Amino acid sequence: MALQNVRTVGVVGCGLMGSGIAEVCARAGFQVIVREVNEELLRKGLDRIRASMAKAVERGKLSAAEMEAAWGHIRGTLRMEDFAACDLVIEAVVEDMPTKKQVFAELDRICPPHAVLASNTSSLSITELGSVTRRPEKVIGFHFFNPVPVMPLLEIVIGLQTAEETVALGRALAERLNKTVVISKDRPGFIVNRLLIPYLLDAIRLLEEGVATMEDIDTAIRLGLNHPMGPFTLMDFVGLDTLLFIADAMFEEFKDPRYAAPPLLRRMVAAGWLGRKSGKGFYTYA
Ligand code: CAA
Repeated sequence: MALQNVRTVGVVGCGLMGSGIAEVCARAGFQVIVREVNEELLRKGLDRIRASMAKAVERGKLSAAEMEAAWGHIRGTLRMEDFAACDLVIEAVVEDMPTKKQVFAELDRICPPHAVLASNTSSLSITELGSVTRRPEKVIGFHFFNPVPVMPLLEIVIGLQTAEETVALGRALAERLNKTVVISKDRPGFIVNRLLIPYLLDAIRLLEEGVATMEDIDTAIRLGLNHPMGPFTLMDFVGLDTLLFIADAMFEEFKDPRYAAPPLLRRMVAAGWLGRKSGKGFYTYA
């Protein structure tokens, strides 16, 4: 299917990533249906989209009229069945294979046969997600980066059975959304997380060894390498639960100690210290 035939984009999940994906799709002129599992999460997600668009207006990236038009394109729902109206659905639920497989099986049942089913997974296999559908050639990875409206990359992940036509749709979508594409084979962590995850886990190991304070590690990376955020600030930003899911998934496949989550990370997630979104991670947020 060509991009000009895509009118309605579905987004499964309205968390940090889902809300950003819904926002950029609405701003690009698509009708967007975004689904959450309960009223409270849906309201929070829609509030996050509105706040992000308001910030874009404040920064002069969007006019007030464009914001209202984009907002008018977004419809929240609690029903998976509403994805029957979609030509493309992007899944952005929790980074857990059984949960994602269930979502893909349901989408396959509900969506029209021409619809492309994409996952925003940051580490899991696209081929495996495709295997629970009757349309593996239309299953693809669209990995966005947080914050989605700001980060200019779209990592497209090609499963073993993904068709060339589906990849072409991904490239065209990226152009509409003003994102630059990189293409990765379906291997754990793709390009970005294959390199990012060992680096972040090593920062925790450095802290646990007592080599330096987390503030100094962050300052060293920010000022010594010109990264916008040091590793601890970035981990809090990504979410420690998400980081742990990704690390565990990568360790499971590679069995390489570079991807083994340090115990401190696991304990922090168990304590509910998930980073910025929960008010506490490595740092504390007001
Ligand atoms: N819509 C459009 N533009 C927006 C916006 C919005 N909602 N909010 C902010 N912006 C723009 C601003 O106008 C500004 O642009 P200019 O420089 O042209 O003025 C730019 O975005 C930066 O915004 P701020 O000044 O508000 O913020 P900042 O300079 O403090 O940067 C940041 C914030 C972009 C988050 C920066 O700290 C950063 O890049 N951090 C690293 C983020 C990162 O690495 N993300 C990837 C995480 S990994 C991941 O997502 C994938 C995974 O699988 C784990």
